[in-house]
Amino acid sequence: MPDNPVITIDGPSGVGKGTVCLFLARETGWHLLDSGAIYRVLAYAALSRKISLEDEHSLSDLACDLNVVFKRSNSEEKLSIFLENKEITEQIRTEECGNAASKVAKYPLVRKALLNRQRGFSKPPGLIADGRDMGTVVFPDARVKIFLNASPEERVNRRYKQLKEQGFSVTLARLSAEIAERDTRDQLRTESPLKPAPDAVVIDTTDLMIEQVINQIWDIIKQDISEFS
Ligand code: C5P
Repeated sequence: MPDNPVITIDGPSGVGKGTVCLFLARETGWHLLDSGAIYRVLAYAALSRKISLEDEHSLSDLACDLNVVFKRSNSEEKLSIFLENKEITEQIRTEECGNAASKVAKYPLVRKALLNRQRGFSKPPGLIADGRDMGTVVFPDARVKIFLNASPEERVNRRYKQLKEQGFSVTLARLSAEIAERDTRDQLRTESPLKPAPDAVVIDTTDLMIEQVINQIWDIIKQDISEFS
């Protein structure tokens, strides 16, 4: 069992993990790890510095030195992300950046370089960890592991709505192709592929409203939360 309690929420793109995790972190007062954002920042930094997304060694050097800071706003509704003291919260949320993130994330050296940085987020009173391999690799001893899933069509629709709300220009056809490409890469890579941990609770959210997903997770974790409050 880890020193500090960790709850992992894994799943594919567009499943709603981000919203769920922000809500849980706010309600519990626990820390939040958005591990996807770390891979996104790395891809963004590589593209800005003209480092090839196929150059595993340079990417892993960059990952070791990455000066990235996460700040949760006072209301804790939003995670702001800074690279070298420059805010890049919006820049990394494009689907292009998500796709570039999944290209850099397939490399073992890159994942190794980012492992301890992610584990460092586990501090008292506890951690809500959002990602693809939180329950399988980064926090295998987590107290509770949740794996959220939904049909590809539903995930594309959710992501489309989210990107539109954030003011991004996006078409359903293009988004659908990009998400399918990203899913395939994330599931088929040899290093930390996207899959539920054997001891994860898998929730199919296809026909659920976000509030229903949160309620189901809350029922699963409330015992653990109260133990540590
Ligand atoms: O969750 P998000 O869409 O921000 O993740 C971007 C990409 O980062 C994913 O498609 C995946 O390839 C990678 N990622 C990962 N492991 C994690 C979190 C994200 O490989 N724990």
